[in-house]
Amino acid sequence: MPLGRRPKITLKLATSLDGKIALANGDSQWVTSDAARAHGRYLRAENDAIAVGAVTAELDNPHLTSRVPGRKDPVRVVFDSSLKLSPGSHLVTTAKDTSTWVFTRHGSDAKAEALREQGVIVHPVTDENGLSLEESLEIMAEAGLRSLLVEGGGTLIASFVRAGLYDTLHWYRAPVLLGGDGRDCVGALSLTNMGQAVRLHRMKVSEVGLDLHEIYVKAD
Ligand SMILES: NC(=O)c1ccc[n+]([C@@H]2O[C@H](COP(=O)([O-])OP(=O)(O)OC[C@H]3O[C@@H](n4cnc5c(N)ncnc54)[C@H](OP(=O)(O)O)[C@@H]3O)[C@@H](O)[C@H]2O)c1
Repeated sequence: MPLGRRPKITLKLATSLDGKIALANGDSQWVTSDAARAHGRYLRAENDAIAVGAVTAELDNPHLTSRVPGRKDPVRVVFDSSLKLSPGSHLVTTAKDTSTWVFTRHGSDAKAEALREQGVIVHPVTDENGLSLEESLEIMAEAGLRSLLVEGGGTLIASFVRAGLYDTLHWYRAPVLLGGDGRDCVGALSLTNMGQAVRLHRMKVSEVGLDLHEIYVKAD
């Protein structure tokens, strides 16, 4: 899917040293340091939209704002096939001030209408084992959104990786271990041989507070 028909896509991972983004019970506040999270907010401000999966929206109740003075907050996007997003969540109650979009398979039921009344933009898209990323990205591009930051969780990140729909990956890595029962930063890719492994080029490594910040691009 060429750029132009879709926004430029950046994947962001904020993980422990062992590649986990949360504990098994979903607690994830906080894996990385204050400095890395502040850095991540600048990354948000550089993008036209930020996306999270339905589980992150439910468990973290995030604001997904950049809070960078003088910078516009990106459009906040949730991939939520069954429209679980709570009417009392931050993303919904602030939707009239900062745009919140939901991609879902339910476009016209009462829940969708109630969210629309609260200012949420609800976009119905095809759902075939996960909402269609291509349709969603086309809708974003047509609305003039030229860059998208995908913040997770691991299930949504894995869908973008499986589809090859990303340009850059920013990885904030904290010197902390969360263990094998923690939640993975990249969900299942269903690879069957090493030839299929997803290979990246490391472009930059720097320290941010206590953490590492690594930038990767797709290796063709
Ligand atoms: N460390 C960090 O910076 C960080 C960042 C983000 C999240 N997290 C943590 O990550 C955890 C949640 O991650 P998660 O992997 O369980 O869930 P997730 O990626 O947040 O959400 C996955 C859900 O999104 C929905 N979805 C709709 N279309 C999809 C598609 N095409 N591909 C993938 N998902 C799609 C599905 O739910 P429906 O079928 O209901 O639509 C799916 O189950 C939370 O504990 C959160 O705290 C941590």
